[in-house]
Amino acid sequence: MTGYARRVFARRAAWNLAASPFAARAFDRRKRGLPLLDLSESNPTRVGLAAPAAALARALSELARDASLGRYVPDPRGEAGARAAIAAHHATPAAPLHAEQVILSAGTSEGYAHLFRLLADPGDRVHLPRPGYPLFEHLAALEGLAIETYTLRPPASGPRWRIDLDAFEASLDARSRAVLLIHPHNPTGSFLDPQDLAALRSLGREHELALISDEVFAGTGSEAAPPSLLAGAEAGPLHFVLSGASKQLALPQLKLAWILVAGPAAAQGEALARLEFIADAYLSVSPLLARLLPDLLAQQRELARPLLARVAANRARLAALDPAGPATALAAEAGWAAILRVHTALDEEAFALALLERAGVLVQPGFLFDLDAAPGVAQLVLSLLPEPDLFARGLGALLAFAAELA
Ligand SMILES: Cc1ncc(COP(=O)(O)O)c(C=O)c1O
Repeated sequence: MTGYARRVFARRAAWNLAASPFAARAFDRRKRGLPLLDLSESNPTRVGLAAPAAALARALSELARDASLGRYVPDPRGEAGARAAIAAHHATPAAPLHAEQVILSAGTSEGYAHLFRLLADPGDRVHLPRPGYPLFEHLAALEGLAIETYTLRPPASGPRWRIDLDAFEASLDARSRAVLLIHPHNPTGSFLDPQDLAALRSLGREHELALISDEVFAGTGSEAAPPSLLAGAEAGPLHFVLSGASKQLALPQLKLAWILVAGPAAAQGEALARLEFIADAYLSVSPLLARLLPDLLAQQRELARPLLARVAANRARLAALDPAGPATALAAEAGWAAILRVHTALDEEAFALALLERAGVLVQPGFLFDLDAAPGVAQLVLSLLPEPDLFARGLGALLAFAAELA
C-alpha cells in the first residue's frame, strides 16, 4: 500500500486487492480463450436454466401494464404484498409467520449489514462457522465488527456436521453479540442438527446472543425438508432468518432478499421497529421489483424444479464414484455444492492449479472455505450447477488427472 493510501483510506478498507495467484491464472485462461471446464460456476443464470428468466419476463410484462406503475409509496419494511407472500412461503404449522415479521433487503448481503448494525457496535463480536462461505467475515468487517469462528466437525459417516459446542461456549465473551448458522450449510450441505440448535438457543438466552440463520439454500435437499428452525423461537433468543430470490427462485438479478424476525414478542417488536429505522435510511429495495414476488413465489416449486433436478443428477454422479478410485465426494443433505476429496501428494492449491493448467478444469480449493487440510488429500469444492454433460467431462478429466499424478 502506498503512503497516500495508508493515510487517506480507513483501516477497514486496507484490503489487498491483488488477485490471488489461483484467481489470476483462471482469469488469464479465460482471457486467452483456452478451453475451460468450469466446475466452480455457481451463478444459475450462466448454466442454461431458462425457466426463472422466462417467468421473470412474464411477470415484468404484466407489471408493465399496471396503471399504478407511476406512483411511489415507499414502505421501509418493503411492499406489503411481497412481505405477505414471503411470510406464506416460509410459514409452517409449527412456526406460523406474518407479513409484519418480514423486512425486505436488496440482497442477502444487505440483510446481513442491517442485522449487524442492529445487533452489534464496532468492536463487538459475531461468531461464524468454520468451514464456511467466504463472504460473511467481509460483511462483518465492513461494519467494524470482530469475527470469531466456531468449528463444524465432519461426521465419521453420514452427512451431518456438528458444532464443537464446548469450544464455542468457551469462546463467548461480553462482546459476543450474534451467532451465524448456515442451514443448509455451504459448502458442506449439512443441516443444523436439532441438538445443536437447542444448545445454541440455551447459550443465546444465557449470553443475550442473537441467532442469525442463513437459509438461502433451504428447499434444496432431496429428502423431506427438516423442521423450520423457527419452531419454538418464541422462547428466545431473538432469531433472524435470511433468505432471498437469488437462491430460492434462481433469480440473483432481482436483488431481492428478506429477513424474518422471530423470538419473544416484546424483543421481536423492538427488533422490527429498529430494523425499519435502518431500512428507512436507505429505502434500497425497489417497490416495483418487490411487486413481482407474490407471482414468482407462487411458482417457486416449478421454477426450482429444473435446477434441483440438475443438482441431483450431478450429485448422483459424484455418489457413484468408485470408493477405491482417486476421488470420493462427501455425503451431503442439500445445497448447490459438493466437497470432493482427492488422493494426491500435492497440496490443495497446487493440485487445483495443476488441474487448471494441465487439464483445463476449474474447481475451488477447499482452503478458500476454511476446510481443514488433511495430509495426502486435496479437498475441492465443486458447484453442482453446471450442465450435466460439462460436469461429467470435467469430473472425468479431474479423475484422469488425479490418476495420472498418482
Ligand atoms: C450461505 C450463503 N448465504 C448468502 C449468500 C449470498 O447470496 P446472494 O447474495 O446471492 O443472496 C451465499 C452465496 O453463495 C451463500 O452461500
